[in-house]
This record gives sequence, C-alpha cells and structure tokens, in this order.
Amino acid sequence: MTSARRTLLVTTPIYYVNDLPHVGHAYTTIAADTLTRARRLAGHDVFFLTGTDEHGQNIERIAREKGISEQEQVDRVSAAFRAVWDRYDIRYDRFIRTTEDVHRRGVLKLWERLRAAKTPDGRDAVYRGKYAGWYCPRCEGFKDEEELRQPGNICPDHERPCEWTEEENFFFRLSAYEAWLRETIERDALPGGLRIRPESRKNEILGLIKQGLKDLSVSRARVRWGIPVPEQPDHVLYVWVDALSNYVTALDFADDGPAYRRYWAGADERLHLIGKDIIRFHCLYWPAILHAAGLLPPNREFAQGFITKDGRKLSKTTGNVIDPIALVERLGPDAARYFLLREAPYGADWDFTDTAFVGRYNADLANDLGNLVSRALTMASRYCNGKVPARPQLRATGPAGDFTEIFAASVCAAGDGLAARLLARYEQIDFSGALTEIWSWVGQFNHAIVHVEPWLLAKDPARREDLEAFLYRLIEGVRLVAVLASPVMPRAARRIFGMLGLGDREPSTDDLAWGRLVPDAALGKIAPLFPRVDTTKNGKETLVTQTPPPAPKAEPAPPPSPAPAAPGGDRIDISEFARIELRAAKVTAAENVSGSKKLVKMQVDLGGESRQLVAGIAESYDPVALVGKTVVVVANLKPAKLMGVESNGMVLAGSIDGRAVLCTFDGEVAPGTKVK
Ligand code: MSP
Repeated sequence: MTSARRTLLVTTPIYYVNDLPHVGHAYTTIAADTLTRARRLAGHDVFFLTGTDEHGQNIERIAREKGISEQEQVDRVSAAFRAVWDRYDIRYDRFIRTTEDVHRRGVLKLWERLRAAKTPDGRDAVYRGKYAGWYCPRCEGFKDEEELRQPGNICPDHERPCEWTEEENFFFRLSAYEAWLRETIERDALPGGLRIRPESRKNEILGLIKQGLKDLSVSRARVRWGIPVPEQPDHVLYVWVDALSNYVTALDFADDGPAYRRYWAGADERLHLIGKDIIRFHCLYWPAILHAAGLLPPNREFAQGFITKDGRKLSKTTGNVIDPIALVERLGPDAARYFLLREAPYGADWDFTDTAFVGRYNADLANDLGNLVSRALTMASRYCNGKVPARPQLRATGPAGDFTEIFAASVCAAGDGLAARLLARYEQIDFSGALTEIWSWVGQFNHAIVHVEPWLLAKDPARREDLEAFLYRLIEGVRLVAVLASPVMPRAARRIFGMLGLGDREPSTDDLAWGRLVPDAALGKIAPLFPRVDTTKNGKETLVTQTPPPAPKAEPAPPPSPAPAAPGGDRIDISEFARIELRAAKVTAAENVSGSKKLVKMQVDLGGESRQLVAGIAESYDPVALVGKTVVVVANLKPAKLMGVESNGMVLAGSIDGRAVLCTFDGEVAPGTKVK
C-alpha cells in the first residue's frame, strides 16, 4: 500500500515555561501528534519529540517576582504542559526538559565539537569577540537598531525598552556558512537538501541569506540560569543554542545512544514543525551549527501560521489567550483537534472564533459524520440481524445509471485510491486538505443513503442482495473514514471501530485495505458519536444527547394531529391564523422513542436554532429516512412531554388509510423559513 518503510523524527519547538500553555502551543503539538499517527498508519517508523525550554533570564526574573526558586518555576509550568498534552491525547515518545542532565551533557559535547571546528575557509568556527548592541531580555536576543520603536528603543515584540549591552562573548562564525546554507536550502527535497515549507518561508530565508548573515553571539555574561561555558564559567551558553540542541540531546547524543543513531544520524527525515516566528533560528542558525560540528542538519521544516483572536496575536497583555484546557473541556479532544486542523491550511494565519468552532462541530461532526455513522450502522444492524452483511464483489456490474451501482463503483474506487491519496496529504502536512477530502466522502455516503433508499430495498425480498451489497459498502466506507481520520480524531476512530465490532482499538496499517469487514461477524453496540451542541440565548452550551430515555411502561397516545378543518360557518380570520407560527424545519437526526411503536424523536434545524420534536409517525417512516427531509412544523406550540420525551413543536402530516404522509415542500426551502 505504501512506499518503503522510512525512519523519521518529528519535533515541536520546546515551549518556554515562563507562562502557562495557550492554544497556539497546542496547535503545533496537535499537528505533530497527528503527523506522527498518520506516518505510523502509513507504516513508517516515527519518533515524536516535544518538551520545554527552561533556561534563561526570563525564568530568573519570573522566579524572583514570585519569590520561588527557578527550579520550582520550571517544574510547575513544565508539568502544566504535560497535563495539557494528556488531555489532548498527545502521545509523544520523549518529553525533553533542558534542565535535565543528559541535555546539559549533550549540549557540552556539541559545544566541544564546535570549539574544535574549522569553517570551509579554514578559520575557527567559534571565536571570542566583543558585542555591543540593543538587548531585549524578553526575547533573550540582540535587536537590530532599525527594528526598535522610537522613542525609547522599544522591542516591537514585547513593547519594552531594550538595554544597550557590551559584552566579551563567544561568537559562532555564521557568515562563513552562507554559501552552504543557500545551496542546502535550494536543493530542497533532493538528497542533502533542506526542504522548507510553505514556499513563502523558504523564500524569506533565502532573502535573509542574500542580505548577508552576521556572526552569532553564543554566550551570555549576565545570565546565571543556564549551562555554564566550560572555558568561561561566568558565562552561560546563549539560550537558543541551548534550546535548539534539544533535538539531538533528547535522543541521547551525549552517549551516542541508539535513539540518536536511529532517529537523527540514521533517519530518512529529521522534521521540525515550528512557528513562523522562529524560522531564522531553525532554518539558519541550527543547520549551520550542526554542519560546523560535523552532524547532519534537519532535512524538513514546516512553519505554521499564527492563530489570532479578534485579529490580534494571542497574548496575556492583550488578554485574548485561549486556554487549551477550557477549549478541550467544551467538546472533547477530538472536536478541538479537528477544528484546529480543519479550519485553515496549516501554514496560514487565521482567526479563532467560537461561532466557527461550534458551527463546524455541529455541521461536520454531529451532522455529517455523526449521522452517517448512526444511520449506516443502524440500518446494517437492523436489516442484517446485527451482523456484517455479505461482502459484494469488488467491482459491481449492473444497470447503468442505477445509483446503487454508481455508488458501488465510486466507493470501490475510493477503496483503491483514497487511502494512498490521503496518506500523501498527511505526508505533505496538508491537514485541512486531508480532512476536506475525507468529508467529501462522508457527504457522498450520506447522499447515497438518500438516493438508494435502503429502507425500500429492505421491503422487497427480491432486492436482498442489492440491499446487503449497499450496506456492506456503506459500513466499509464508514470504517475507512474512521481509519483515515484517526490521526486527527483517535477517540472517535476507536469508538467507530467498537460499533463496527472491530474491538476497542485504534486503526493500524493493516486496516487501510478495502474489504476488511468480515461478513456475518457481529456488529457492536451503537452509541452517539458527537451529540449536537445547542447554544441558548444567554450563551450557555448544552450537548443534546441522542440516547433514548428509559422505556416507560405504557404506550401513550400519539401526539395530537392538526385540528380538523373548521366547517364553513365557523371560519377564522387571518389574525387568528397569524398566531400560528408555521416554519420549514430540516430533520438533522431521528430515532424511535424507546418502548414506543408510534413515536419518533427528531432533532430539527429551524434556521440556526435546533429543536427536539416528537411525532407519531414511526409506523409510516423509518427514522433513517427522515434525516435530510424539510418538513413543516408549528413552531410556537407550548412544549409537551410524550412518553417522557419533550416535544417542542408539532410536525404537520396528512393521513392516507391510517398512514402518515409528511407535509414537505415542492422545492428547496431554507430551514426556518416562515410558512404562510
Ligand atoms: N522556546 C522557544 C522555541 C525553542 S525551539 C528550540 C519558543 N517557545 S514559545 O513557547 O514561545 O513558542 C513556541 C511555538 O509555539 C511557536 O513557534 C509556535 O509554533 C507556537 N505558537 C505560539 N503562539 C502561537 C500562536 N498564537 N499561533 C500559532 N502558534 C503559536 O519560541
């Protein structure tokens, strides 16, 4: 199915521990976790590394302000990062902390190599020199004069004054590696190259090289909380040199350990996911340092865009941080992961809004995917005695134009090509593209249900084979959707597998092939996947669970049907009619009321508002056939309870020989439209 097994390292930046994690950090970490899962699904050998960046002047300052030790500060915040990652189902292989001893030893080994290194033109790669410039303690870096805002020499990122600083420092001769960097980056995906994406970031880096690179000051005189430079113990190594080294020290570069040999020196891909704010460090300084020290550089880097809120960068100062714990608690980890990766292409900047989050959740997860899973499995279970239907031939032949056959052909084609295409999209770090394609299949499957009308096939014994073939393809399609979405939504995939009777497990490479469901095997228990969210006027969110209430003892009377037409002499005037609010409503979910032969419980969309209705139409309509229909409801009827289930309105229907026939429209009408 996939290309030869490759070995790769996937990393996130290591996060500063001066403050608690926010959703921007979660964004990169979710992306790295998803990429890791997808590449493993494709059969590759992946090591996923993340961690925390714990040294530097900022930590000294914050610890002093709080009256705690530096160690206490970094322990607390590093633990908070790990706690957030647990909530998001992030499964890393190694969490590095730059205060670990194995890191310190690794950094010093790299430093020793750099001290001994010669540039291509035979000079020392590291030398002592004098540095004078504007230093921002928050950035932990010197700023170019032209970057500063005047008056006051203000750092544009931190809006605080920079300090004029003169130091005797160690320098890394970055300028000697310009030609090598340019060639390496221009080689791109070729062997020996560094592939930087998106292309715009690659061009930005090539532009910086063109302007000329200055040597980099790599030690600091006035910082205590860091790794002392052996030759000059009153200096510590520049925090960025310390931090970047994590990518090899975490793999035990210090002792030339097996992880280092396998996932760095011997890896096919050394891939860093980074933010667009730190490309200079990762795409210039880091590769040059490694090359000078005689180590391999990374060969892939992808810079993500920034999430903003109300158009502004997330920051404590502007008060617009999004707490990742609050986000995950709202609708669960799968919903948050899905939204963050689906909403915008990974390299682009985008604005986070609550409306988009809840809207996507209801539309894509509750409606599209949730309904597909529940309808497909309910029908398969009901019409095939809770078992997997007979497996049809892979390529169906049949009367041209029959939707069943068109569906069969397209689903089989999907089985052949979809998995490979999707895995390629993940490989290219195109999460939103991968999800868009999966959801286009979800849409096609839902569409096929409406067109094929399996509930009609189920009534005709002569069409039994067609019915089973359709249902097999449908639930096999659902299975494949679960497999391919599993890197983004591991929990939902697991639950769908459970409902398909495949056990409580996450999909693996073997599950990518079409036709893995075994006919006659028992299907599992169906449970709601993503209950809809209703937002009340005061902004409170409630999950509308679609689990049926416990069955009551007696069958109640069906809901009242519309009043009989008034006889001629007893007509009402228009103002009386105007009191009845009739509206178009689209059925988004439906199920039989447990313990009742007559009642169906429906969720309907009234144009932005979701309602629950109960109607006595179960003997005439299969609930799966109701979803997607636009019906007419009396919207301003007082709520009533039918067999303990609340109904908020009434569906209009006529009746032919005791069989209910719903009032629908002779054309497309938007949900919520007033009927008059
Ligand atoms: N410690 C350094 C990285 C050292 S890596 C050797 C650092 N840490 S950070 O905590 O400030 O942020 C790291 C990364 O978090 C950013 O590069 C970016 O990937 C991510 N994000 C932080 N804020 C973000 C947004 N508002 N939006 C998207 N990503 C953001 O820099």
